[in-house]
Amino acid sequence: MEEKKPSIQRILEASYFALMRCYTVATASQYSIFTHLSSGPKSVEEIAKLAEIQPRGAQALLDGLVGAGLVEVRDGRYVNSIDAEFFLVKGKPVYLGEYVKWAFLPFLTDVRQLPEVLKSGNPISQLADDDGAQYADLLPGLLPFAKANVDYTIARLEFSTRNAPQVLDVGGGHGVYAAFMLKANPTAIITQLDFGPVNALARHFVGSHGVADRFRTIDGDLTTAALGDEQYDVIVYADVTHVQSAEQNQDALTRIRKALKPGGTLVLTAFMTTDDRSGPNPFTLHVNTNMLVSTPAGAVWTQSDHRRWLAAAGFEEITLEVTERPQTFVFAR
Ligand SMILES: C[S@@+](CC[C@H](N)C(=O)[O-])C[C@H]1O[C@@H](n2cnc3c(N)ncnc32)[C@H](O)[C@@H]1O
Repeated sequence: MEEKKPSIQRILEASYFALMRCYTVATASQYSIFTHLSSGPKSVEEIAKLAEIQPRGAQALLDGLVGAGLVEVRDGRYVNSIDAEFFLVKGKPVYLGEYVKWAFLPFLTDVRQLPEVLKSGNPISQLADDDGAQYADLLPGLLPFAKANVDYTIARLEFSTRNAPQVLDVGGGHGVYAAFMLKANPTAIITQLDFGPVNALARHFVGSHGVADRFRTIDGDLTTAALGDEQYDVIVYADVTHVQSAEQNQDALTRIRKALKPGGTLVLTAFMTTDDRSGPNPFTLHVNTNMLVSTPAGAVWTQSDHRRWLAAAGFEEITLEVTERPQTFVFAR
């Protein structure tokens, strides 16, 4: 193995560069810089005009984007990098332009107060509250990530071939699971439990996919809501465990187990660390700091934590799958 040498570059990447890139990319997305560049190489002046910003600022922004590797200089004009062209241009199949704008959300800017949080143990803000306000801003950014997870889930469950499956999505958010699962199986009916304002977003999203007639919503708090008895063939609990305490997850999973028909399947996705907390990816490891600052007791829990809750809830077959996506998947019966 090659010996690792100390590197100032790695320190810069983890500090000044990370901070500047975060806001540079978010601002570029806000002014649609990547979308403007998608139509062909542009000069600074052309970009300033198209984005309706000052040329001095346009130059700074483009310099920063070149530094970040998202824009390249070609013959004195600017072009998108392959990543920017694929992920940051409006109208492309996968658009992460809303996601990179998270840099401006309180959910992330509160991280500036991390030193105080480490002393007090108290969060600065409350990510999950029943007016759903923070989620309404967050969810559009999450959509492309969730879509990839739904595709994986549909294939993994062979969902399209199931006969009239009844599905419950606990903390369904934007309704991405509902929209694409309902489209994949015209006999499915999906109920989503989430806060009222979040469900309103979901109804709009699911409606825009033309499948609202088979979509039901329950406005409520998943930490206390009754989920029913042996009612569902599939229950989805996707990207929720990190927002909840260990006790809340144990309690929710126990109610979820009870709400599944015998032989029914739970699909759980989570930012979940390996048991030694060295992986499985940087994304997962960074989420823990977000949760520290924005939830009273949320955390990135380990694989063993999830297995323990599931076993205690009564699940017998528990299959855990680390994929190339940020989240780890669990299929349990
Ligand atoms: C990170 S989002 C995940 C959304 C969705 N499951 C997905 O994978 O796209 C977490 C969701 O859980 C919901 N949530 C968090 N705490 C909740 C609670 N106590 N009661 C109801 N919903 C809650 C949020 O409103 C949000 O929609």
